[in-house]
Amino acid sequence: MDMVNVIETKRDGEELSTQQIRDFITEYTAEIIPDYQAAALLMAIYLRGMTRRETVDLTLAIAASGNQLDLHDVAPLVVDKHSSGGVGDKTTLVVQPLVAACGVPVGKMSGRGLGSSGGTLDKMESFRGWSSSMDLPRFKRQLAEIGLVLAGQTAVLAPADGKLYALRDVTGTVASTPLIAASIMSKKLAGGADAIVLDVKMGSGAFMPNLEAAKELSRIMVDIGKDAGRQTVALITDMNQPLGHAIGNALEVKEALATLRGEGPAEFWAHCQDVAAYMLLLAGNVDSLEAGREKATAVIKNGRALEKFRQMVVAQGGNASQVDDPTLLPQAAFVEDLVVPRAGFVKALDTGRIGWAGVHLGAGRLVKSDTIDHAVGFILPIMVGDKVTEGDVIGSIHANDAEKLAEARAELWASISWSETAVDPLPHFYTAVT
Ligand code: URA
Repeated sequence: MDMVNVIETKRDGEELSTQQIRDFITEYTAEIIPDYQAAALLMAIYLRGMTRRETVDLTLAIAASGNQLDLHDVAPLVVDKHSSGGVGDKTTLVVQPLVAACGVPVGKMSGRGLGSSGGTLDKMESFRGWSSSMDLPRFKRQLAEIGLVLAGQTAVLAPADGKLYALRDVTGTVASTPLIAASIMSKKLAGGADAIVLDVKMGSGAFMPNLEAAKELSRIMVDIGKDAGRQTVALITDMNQPLGHAIGNALEVKEALATLRGEGPAEFWAHCQDVAAYMLLLAGNVDSLEAGREKATAVIKNGRALEKFRQMVVAQGGNASQVDDPTLLPQAAFVEDLVVPRAGFVKALDTGRIGWAGVHLGAGRLVKSDTIDHAVGFILPIMVGDKVTEGDVIGSIHANDAEKLAEARAELWASISWSETAVDPLPHFYTAVT
């Protein structure tokens, strides 16, 4: 194909044909088109956008770049969730085992960190030996045996997304509505989910900065899901502050494990309950959201959700003793408290900046070849509206390098703004798009 012509067409704001989009995905997956040309096209898409037709074509082409699973021989109805990306977002780690423990099979294809937002696979690799790569027979066997799989984009499932995702992460082309919609929905379609709950994050730490943009992304994804015959709901939820208290891979895993033990932060648990309730409702497992929330609480209380998580870790080669004793997860060499220098109220958190501070500490990637430092990150239990007095400890920095720690400290303080007067807390849920 004439890739230069494709780049120029999009650069000049014109529409790409269905065939051009398909050829681009086929040849990029086959490594005929090099990264530098793909990066140029991604930037042109980022700047010029895509029509709805182009976005659907891109989604279907990425979904068709590998196998498209039909899981009905092992599970009558498979349900899945996906987040559009946020800081401290470890919802998958809690919600997937929780829903599986309620008897609804969950086969999920997850991603790695993207820009300032963390990724489920990077978090899960905090467990020694845990692997997300598997072939189709193994995916199905695990789904049939334990009802829970967390796979990555492999040569088998939406491989084009794996390649594009890694390229977007390091070329400033993440926050694009068509690219996010195609990335998320291609994985969901290829992964064979019958029912999909999309957690669309909105705010300073999300790729969608406001409600309007979040609604547009939600509408496109819900339409793509419907066209493909999948029940799809998008929940627009807040990302103007980190989700939960932990930011950084192993720290987030520890918080997820605490939540599975019923000891997680209240607002994070409320979010997990909501997402799980929608998944159970779409799966026909309960007949109301309230019943879904109650069922979710029950499998936390009786330990079945934690046990399901443990089974998945073991099935994918991970170290179960780290589930049983989270202190065995990676720990940073330096832990420094954040002590408030003044009294006041938390006015706002620049959540994207907090996410980038984590990336600079080593929790994410600046170039494709960067390795993740699983131990580093922050514990930040403050929320917008909280009142603090001078000398309060409002969190901690976990680092393996003294210089990076000093940089992270400066970035973190710069990302918090204060008020002398009381500030209203933020909602965690905005609306559902069905
Ligand atoms: N999650 C994805 O899988 N892809 C994106 O582009 C953003 C979030």
